[in-house]
Amino acid sequence: MSLLDDLRQLEVRARQLIASAETQEKLEEARVALLGRKGELTGMMRMMGQLTPEERPQVGKCANEVRSAVEQVLSERMAAMKQAAQERKLAAEALDITLPGVRPHLGHQHLISQIIEEIEDVFCSIGYTVESGPQVETSYYNFTALNAPMDHPSRSARDTFYVLDLAPGSVAHPEVHAQGESDVLLRTQTSGVQIHTMETQTPPIYMIAPGRVYRPDTADASHLPQFNQVEGLVVDKGISFADLKGTLDYFVRSMFGKDRRTRYRPHFFPFTEPSCEIDVSCGVCHGEGCSFCKHSGWIEILGAGMVDPNVLVNCGIDPELYSGFAFGAGVERIAALRYDLPDLRTLMTGDMRFLAQF
Ligand code: PHE
Repeated sequence: MSLLDDLRQLEVRARQLIASAETQEKLEEARVALLGRKGELTGMMRMMGQLTPEERPQVGKCANEVRSAVEQVLSERMAAMKQAAQERKLAAEALDITLPGVRPHLGHQHLISQIIEEIEDVFCSIGYTVESGPQVETSYYNFTALNAPMDHPSRSARDTFYVLDLAPGSVAHPEVHAQGESDVLLRTQTSGVQIHTMETQTPPIYMIAPGRVYRPDTADASHLPQFNQVEGLVVDKGISFADLKGTLDYFVRSMFGKDRRTRYRPHFFPFTEPSCEIDVSCGVCHGEGCSFCKHSGWIEILGAGMVDPNVLVNCGIDPELYSGFAFGAGVERIAALRYDLPDLRTLMTGDMRFLAQF
């Protein structure tokens, strides 16, 4: 009965072989070695033909038992391996939702946008509207309607970016631009919005117009070729210089603090008469004189004046009936004064170490 013993021994070895298979591949090798067509158990079963008819049922039964035992152990082991593999995979992919997340970086408004909104708040709270106009303008709106004479130096291509193609061979020159009324340019001031507003609205007009302007200046600590202004315009019956002064004093104190004083200096602008420049007392030395205010105690922040009657006439408004005042302020300059910025160019660099401070 050595075949019976062989079968029992085979079962013992098979269990060991299966138990020691460490990978699914090794397990498959074991299955082929045991149960495959050339496998050990298969070989033994083939030998059954040599047995006597009496021995055959007993050995056959034993062979079947061994076979199904081996098959069962194999499949249990295979299932356990698959389960372990699955668990490893899940563990590797596990997401710990209790870990702190990566916070998305939230940006904020640029300092210049913040200041423009603040100026809008100051004026909207006293009933002004916010208007806008095109940055690509014609010389009519930027100069002519604003009473600038044809030979005014600011019309020259040295002081204004012209975007219209000039005739071949011609050179941008004050005289050239003094002739054409429709030359296209990048606006050098927001004052053109005064004209657009008076053309499309009837008085009373109380408006401000923030926006970008352009001048062919090389960027340095106090100049940018592109910057922002806030224009203001009031046209109503009986408006006087007292209204200008009261309004701009209110504006300056809203922006810089109640303790600030203002000073009105005579100046000239083509579109206002009389005109003035407005200074605010220095916030660093409070008027004593220091290096920030170049030892004058004052810092210039606004241009302003009473709207020239010619400008009203250009816009179809009767200067006998209406009068008004206008003003313009540089937004970057206000930012620089507020935060002691030593160099306006820092506002344009996009350096987050600088911008994130505001
Ligand atoms: N537009 C003038 C400038 O750019 C400022 C200004 C506006 C002056 C309105 C008077 C009235 O310098």
